[in-house]
Amino acid sequence: MCVELLEAGAEVVGIDNFDNSHPEALRRVAAITGREVIFTEGDLRDRDLLDTVFEANMISAVIHFAGLKAVGESVREPLHYFANNLGSTMTLLEAMEAHKVHKLVFSSSCTVYGHPDPARMPLTEDTPRGAGNPYGRTKLMIEQMLEDIAAGPSPWKIMMLRYFNPVGAHPSGSLGEDPAGVPENLVPYTMQVAVERRPYLKVFGGDYETPDGTCIRDYIHVVDLVRGHQRALEELHTVDGVEAVNLGTGVGSSVLQVVAAAGRAAGRDIPYEVVDRRPGDAPVVFADTTLASERLGWRAELDLDHMCADHWRWQQQNPDGYGGPPS
Ligand code: WQD
Repeated sequence: MCVELLEAGAEVVGIDNFDNSHPEALRRVAAITGREVIFTEGDLRDRDLLDTVFEANMISAVIHFAGLKAVGESVREPLHYFANNLGSTMTLLEAMEAHKVHKLVFSSSCTVYGHPDPARMPLTEDTPRGAGNPYGRTKLMIEQMLEDIAAGPSPWKIMMLRYFNPVGAHPSGSLGEDPAGVPENLVPYTMQVAVERRPYLKVFGGDYETPDGTCIRDYIHVVDLVRGHQRALEELHTVDGVEAVNLGTGVGSSVLQVVAAAGRAAGRDIPYEVVDRRPGDAPVVFADTTLASERLGWRAELDLDHMCADHWRWQQQNPDGYGGPPS
């Protein structure tokens, strides 16, 4: 996101506590664009820090990405997720209100749909919400918070972007996902198996009512996701209150289909073992993308093989992520 905004000439102000990211990524953004993010390391729950950043910069709009985002981890550590995701958002919103910044693009999630009936696929934005895990509940609670705030006296303009499953990396191979510790998400873990950082992939459940018995998700390239954010920023002035838009491809892919695509990208078979289901998982989730097309004039353009090829390039060039020497 920073690369595209900087390359478009925007001034970008960033805050991150590096809980699940790395300062090296900022250095690489500067190397790619020749421009720097105006960056402050810190936690969004630190109101004084936020006031300092808002006072020092002319902030026209905020994109709020910060949040823990692993379903499995949230089931194990619900309080950590509530404290971090809700606490950081509330402090950010208070600071925005105090500094009269009322334009917000919020990184929401398809997990607000909970465990939808597979017969309802693809999911439209008016699908009844009802999160099926603590992570999704934090996103749902934040959406409800934003709806209440938007109904209040201040002139809020909020776009809630419901991400499906973001994967892939910057096509340069120098920027990508480098989760702290053991990756919770499918593609980062699979790519670490492909680069032989891990022996094999555990496929969580092979007995779902799907064509190959594994869960189906809507994987979307991060580059497409960024383009969706740029369009949301461009349209934000037309929002009256708050709107939600799905950011997905409209295509469902099973775990085994992802594993096969990763193998094609890496040029080797990915070793895996089918094990028990993971608590909190929904069998089938993929997006209806009609509203994104009509409201934002945006559609995802990159397919699963493209996602895996870009993710593999990042992993192969950075087998130990940002912490290790690039290969
Ligand atoms: C996908 C599938 C697992 C790991 C993600 C993000 C969340 C949100 C929604 C944006 C599931 C299976 C996984 C592994 C596996 N996105 N799997 N072995 O749970 O859909 O949630 O998308 O907000 O932020 O977490 O993604 O990648 O964890 O799982 O078999 O080692 O892969 O069971 O079926 P999920 P995921």
